[in-house]
Amino acid sequence: MADLEGLKVAKDYHVETPFANQNGFYLKGANSLDWGMKKHMSNIFNPKSGNTVMFAFDHGYFMGSAAGLERLDLLIPQLAPYVDCFMGTRGAIRTCVAPELTKSVALRVTSGSSMLQDDLSHEVVAVDIEDAIRMNADCMAVQTFIGAKGQLSSIDNLSQVINAGMRYSIPTLGVCAVGKEMERTDRFFKLATRIIAEMGCQIVKTYDCENFEEVVAACPVPIVVAGGKKLPEKEALELAYDVIRKGAHGVDMGRNIFQSQYPIEMAKAVNKIVHEGMTAKEAWEFFEDETH
Ligand code: R5P
Repeated sequence: MADLEGLKVAKDYHVETPFANQNGFYLKGANSLDWGMKKHMSNIFNPKSGNTVMFAFDHGYFMGSAAGLERLDLLIPQLAPYVDCFMGTRGAIRTCVAPELTKSVALRVTSGSSMLQDDLSHEVVAVDIEDAIRMNADCMAVQTFIGAKGQLSSIDNLSQVINAGMRYSIPTLGVCAVGKEMERTDRFFKLATRIIAEMGCQIVKTYDCENFEEVVAACPVPIVVAGGKKLPEKEALELAYDVIRKGAHGVDMGRNIFQSQYPIEMAKAVNKIVHEGMTAKEAWEFFEDETH
């Protein structure tokens, strides 16, 4: 196995240089995918902006209704016009997302954790590929714990899902997990996102961090960024603007939308940043106009 001896210290991520191997398709790393994969990727990432607003409401799979998602059935239809993709469990999607909503679906396919446990890093593949096909999932989301006790099993889960996805042309979204004991540094995210991408995921979900543009540059597939813990709305819009400016292809935002007093207006403002190039300041002014 390669060691780190002789590694040059100064790394060059060429952050100003666009991804090179992109002839023929608008999404990073998707050049060689087949028609079915590209179709699913195009359902998720708007071909005009190249970006996506994913609404993450998969928190219930380990938190129940504690996160603030008591009534998905009421929230989802109101948010639908302003998001591109619904990310949730099959239980939440089948019961609360009307099939008439022509939005893409990121189906969470791993499970096994609950907030009652100390170590959340051991999961299983809970949804088989046939059910993902039945649900017309545009991608399958797998929680991936790099550097945690459950790393081996989550790499096994990820590989199983990617292999099944390759058989039926359904992309896999590798969710870079950060447990309590895991660092949130660029060093960690560079390691974890690159491992996840090299396992064969077509999309990686991660968090903002210092030198985020280097994380993006070193990851050969599109990155979407989780919102994380609830922030004041102005800060959440700054986060969204900052990561898009640094090369993310969208956000996968949950709590900063659904825990806001104004979830619909937040989704609208985030959409303006992600698809219309609004700055954080412009989006904040838009949000204020909408809420006053
Ligand atoms: C995390 O495991 C889940 O995938 C969440 O969906 C994700 O963290 C995004 O939600 P939030 O913006 O609330 O962090």
